[in-house]
Amino acid sequence: MAMPGLETVPARTPQAEHLYAKVRHAIPAVEWPVHAQDIDAIMTLKRTRNAVVLAHNYQTPEIFHCVSDFVGDSLALAREAMTADADVIVLAGVHFMAETAKLLNPEKTVLIPDLGAGCSLAESIRPEDVRLLRQTYPGIPIVTYVNTSAAVKALSDICCTSGNAKAVIESLGVERVIMLPDEFLARNVAAETNVKVIAWSGHCEVHERFSAGEVRQLREDYPGVIVLAHPECPPEVVAEADFSGSTAAMSSYVNKNRPARVVLLTECSMSDNVAIHYPDLEFIRPCNLCPHMKKISLRNIRRALETMQHEVHIDPAIAVPARRAVERMLDVR
Ligand code: 13P
Ligand code: SF4
Repeated sequence: MAMPGLETVPARTPQAEHLYAKVRHAIPAVEWPVHAQDIDAIMTLKRTRNAVVLAHNYQTPEIFHCVSDFVGDSLALAREAMTADADVIVLAGVHFMAETAKLLNPEKTVLIPDLGAGCSLAESIRPEDVRLLRQTYPGIPIVTYVNTSAAVKALSDICCTSGNAKAVIESLGVERVIMLPDEFLARNVAAETNVKVIAWSGHCEVHERFSAGEVRQLREDYPGVIVLAHPECPPEVVAEADFSGSTAAMSSYVNKNRPARVVLLTECSMSDNVAIHYPDLEFIRPCNLCPHMKKISLRNIRRALETMQHEVHIDPAIAVPARRAVERMLDVR
């Protein structure tokens, strides 16, 4: 019997039908028909629009495993954006990632499904702050995390991600750098290099909430657990962890080492997405949600492709120097 207020959806969704096996551990069967309808529509729209979906590792499993053409960390998404063979790129991630894709593909249409998908790090610094830092520290190169606006990147010497920050800093061959805007990433990288790092005071609202005490408690509650921490976590958390690396590096660690019991100190969807591949490993799941990443859904990816909104535009006066800073980063191997 139909329940009042419950929308009935057709059970047959030919293109999505086989995908449920990939995500059944994370998505209850009762929710699947609604997702399946959107997945079917997105598959068709991708072909019609000659579009690809690039999804960050923090996207929910139905996006990550069912409609994305490419998944990865910020660095991998930037590299992929450069080679994507499509007219349209839908960035299932946050706004700075869509801007980076646009910087590297000025001739392509880049869509972000929700303009509100921001980032606390990108919000923490403005172009005028960077200008002031240049005046305060003349001659010191500015290394800017990709989690920033194009306008901030445009005033920087080079960009970095959590996956290449140390290599980028050391590639400059200088004694001192300014590293913006993540204080914790800067301090974590400084601990691994002889280059002196001047940091800004931005924080990721997701990773700053993990504490060293939480890690110690996890070790007590789950004996033998291997702790992986994203470098946006406070340094005392990274110090307590067994390994620290970008989302892609955490994924590779699990793949290579197959820890029987593991915890990923990062955004919640990360464990969901990785755990799918390792049913024999135990994933302990204290995690923090990124409200910005969670603004992206199958429904608004579908709408983006239907309406071709929201298109990312960058003022050429900003795009040219910002692109230079990103390309310089991509040249560092
Ligand atoms: P990664 O580059 O490690 O994927 O991190 C991006 C991010 O926003 C982490 O919070
Ligand atoms: Fe920004 Fe943190 Fe969300 Fe990543 S997890 S997008 S750094 S707020």
